[in-house]
Amino acid sequence: MSARDSIKLLVPNLPQGHELMPRLLQMDARRVYTNFGPLVQEFEAALGQALQSQSPAATGQPSTVHCVTLSSGTAALELTLMAMNLPQGSQVLLPSYTFAATALAVLRCGLVPVFSDVDEFTWQLTPAIARDAVSRMDFSLVLPVATFACPFEGQVWDRFSDETGVPVLIDAAAGFGNQTVGLKTPVCFSLHATKPFGVGEGGFMASANGDLVAQVRRLSNFGFEKGQVVRLGINAKLSEYAAAIGLVQLDRWAGLQTQRRVRWQRFSSELTKVPDLALQAGFGLNDIPSNVVVRHVRAEQLRLQCAAAGIETRSWYCPPLHQQAAFREMPVLAYLEQQKLSQSEHLGQFTIGLPWHDDLTDGDITSISTQLQAVCQSPRTVRS
Ligand SMILES: Cc1ncc(COP(=O)(O)O)c(C=O)c1O
Repeated sequence: MSARDSIKLLVPNLPQGHELMPRLLQMDARRVYTNFGPLVQEFEAALGQALQSQSPAATGQPSTVHCVTLSSGTAALELTLMAMNLPQGSQVLLPSYTFAATALAVLRCGLVPVFSDVDEFTWQLTPAIARDAVSRMDFSLVLPVATFACPFEGQVWDRFSDETGVPVLIDAAAGFGNQTVGLKTPVCFSLHATKPFGVGEGGFMASANGDLVAQVRRLSNFGFEKGQVVRLGINAKLSEYAAAIGLVQLDRWAGLQTQRRVRWQRFSSELTKVPDLALQAGFGLNDIPSNVVVRHVRAEQLRLQCAAAGIETRSWYCPPLHQQAAFREMPVLAYLEQQKLSQSEHLGQFTIGLPWHDDLTDGDITSISTQLQAVCQSPRTVRS
């Protein structure tokens, strides 16, 4: 099969060179390339306004969403954790079914990640799971993940913090466009090229708390304040080049989202034709997943069938973190030890990520659905 015939898993969609030119020329004229330059400032303000306008006009909506851009989503998590001043060695509850960066950021801040299972339907660490966990063990923070851009609704984590006294930080790496920002809970996003809103490499943190955002900004600039290092930071600033891409990407965003919504409606309705295929629950009507991941007991057969038909797939977050070499010694929720984080392990074994990007045609979607149906409608030949 030729490369042209294959259906790619992921095709990043960043602005083209000619679209960037006006912003690059602005940068050339100013000779400012980094250190919180005018493009970074404009980008941060625009991100804040976009998040503000995406929030439902309900009670609990912040009057201003402050944003600080960073060199990656991982840096956003790490520096926000630092700025939250959690006691060294204290325990942070996070899902095992996530990308490694969530746990790495916790470890690099001198905190102890405690892996939790996820909800059977949303595939997320939910407030209900966290409530149970904090009633049994001490945690200095809960770090839920907006898995595959599935957003947490309204202010559920703000309410959790109010009720339990335990702060929350949301990792919504792929969730820009879906995940809103509440009054209390900061949210970290990634701007990696493979995310729905990508600039190449980058990330940002958004919060109603301007002081927290200012602290993260300081930490991203070595910890400098008024010419002196006041905390041990790093260099995690976003360059003017990346901010230029981000500003153009914001101009394209509404158009991209409109097309993606139509494509997602078509794809999800095709997927309903495949017997016993489960999709992640919890997306609102207007939300768009960052990755199309399906769960089926014959996932391995689906993978092989797709490969034979030239359809690329990937097993995202497999195996879950508590089963990966670097994290195997880390604690899992002690009282769940017997259950072995069963949902996360099941997802690790029985999910596959299907192609999902802006070049995916209606014909591609039909081909993918046809291949999945061929497997799922045939009599079972293997035990799974
Ligand atoms: C859930 C999650 N958290 C954090 C990150 C890290 O983001 P970045 O690659 O921008 O550092 C990712 C990246 O894929 C992710 O999926």
